[in-house]
Amino acid sequence: MTEQLIQLGLAGLGTVGSGVYEALRDNNTLLEARAKIPFAVKKIAVRDLDKKRDVIIPNELLTDNWEELVNDPAIDIIVELIGGTTQAYQLVTAALKAGKPVVTGNKALLAEHGAEIFKLSAQSGIPIYFEASAGGGIPIIHSLQSSLICNHITSIVGIINGTSNYILSSMGEDDTDYDVALTQARELGFAEDDPTLDVNGWDAAHKALILAMLAFGKTISPDKIFVNGIENISKKDFAFAKQLGYTIKLLVIIRKHENGKDAIELRVQPCFVPNSHILASVNGVFNAIAVTGDIVGETLFYGRGAGKMPTASAVIADIITAMRESRHPEFHTGFHPYATKCEIMSIEDTTSPYYVRFQVADQPGVIAELARILALYGIGISATSSSKNSQDETGMVWNDLVFMLHECPWGQLQMALNDIAELAYIRPNPSVIRIENLLPNP
Ligand code: HSE
Repeated sequence: MTEQLIQLGLAGLGTVGSGVYEALRDNNTLLEARAKIPFAVKKIAVRDLDKKRDVIIPNELLTDNWEELVNDPAIDIIVELIGGTTQAYQLVTAALKAGKPVVTGNKALLAEHGAEIFKLSAQSGIPIYFEASAGGGIPIIHSLQSSLICNHITSIVGIINGTSNYILSSMGEDDTDYDVALTQARELGFAEDDPTLDVNGWDAAHKALILAMLAFGKTISPDKIFVNGIENISKKDFAFAKQLGYTIKLLVIIRKHENGKDAIELRVQPCFVPNSHILASVNGVFNAIAVTGDIVGETLFYGRGAGKMPTASAVIADIITAMRESRHPEFHTGFHPYATKCEIMSIEDTTSPYYVRFQVADQPGVIAELARILALYGIGISATSSSKNSQDETGMVWNDLVFMLHECPWGQLQMALNDIAELAYIRPNPSVIRIENLLPNP
């Protein structure tokens, strides 16, 4: 029996959209041989029909109206790659309502509107696939949904923003300036249209929300995640980290605590990672995600977390899954929330050791005052380090003073820092970086 041709409507021809078009074209024979389903791109919606593009597309495929994709009865599957949360939201909800399965890589859309979109998908029985929404080319979504299906997930910890990892690696390894590294990441096509999301931690947070939803079976609203970015990490912090045997990584921490409430720690923060840990060697655009399940134990997923072709690879995997599952729509692997509760811990209660770098005036008693306040809050110091800065315009000498602090709740440290902020001869806003309690290398 000859399979019926499946036709795709592609919305968006930016970096990832053109990668998808090129890979579908170049690997068409391989894909049809493996999937055993003939397919074709029927229409592509773009913002500007006249824009000069690197990829050559027959004119008759292009439209500047995405509604044509949804309204065309010959189009079976919609691939949303326009990004943002306004038009993309309209397109995805219209497609699901029209009975067309959707493939998207839009993490912001799913993090912000996931509850509504997944409900619509469940009610209509029309799946939405989103492998490209987290981890770029790493098959983490499919792994959580299918390969690890029998596991209660106990933790997901890792690096899931390629741009910030590229910047931190360049600062740590090559001593590159923050702004130069960010410009390079943008030129390489890793960064979001709005790169502030990459550096302020929110791109990683959107992905973390999606991973947590899959792990715990419930949609989670973005106000539940605590997020710090990398904007304030300086070369000085890298120098101290190196001296102390660490590097700095922007980590996503999703960790279930068996504390009677089964509460989940959910945060994105720059962290000290010991050089001996495998995550310390994940550099450049690479992402790594360590998933621990009660049956499987520890697993580690590694690959390119951003960029045109790795992301296209993830999108195409979903297109093929959507085609295959369209034969048996009742068994589709789109996300069906199933849990009734999912309690997220307050950041105040999350604990770890810390690195804190103060800038203190070279005056007698300053260190003793700092130590006294920390002791008042029961916070112990495990090590100290310092370096001398140059004089300021008044002739006063300021030193960088680093305290490595024993494990304590985040809230307790913040209270101590509030008191310390009142002291004279200490500059405001010390650099506070968690020293992450990581599982041993798998
Ligand atoms: N801007 C994202 C990153 C792209 O740098 O990881 C992939 O989601």
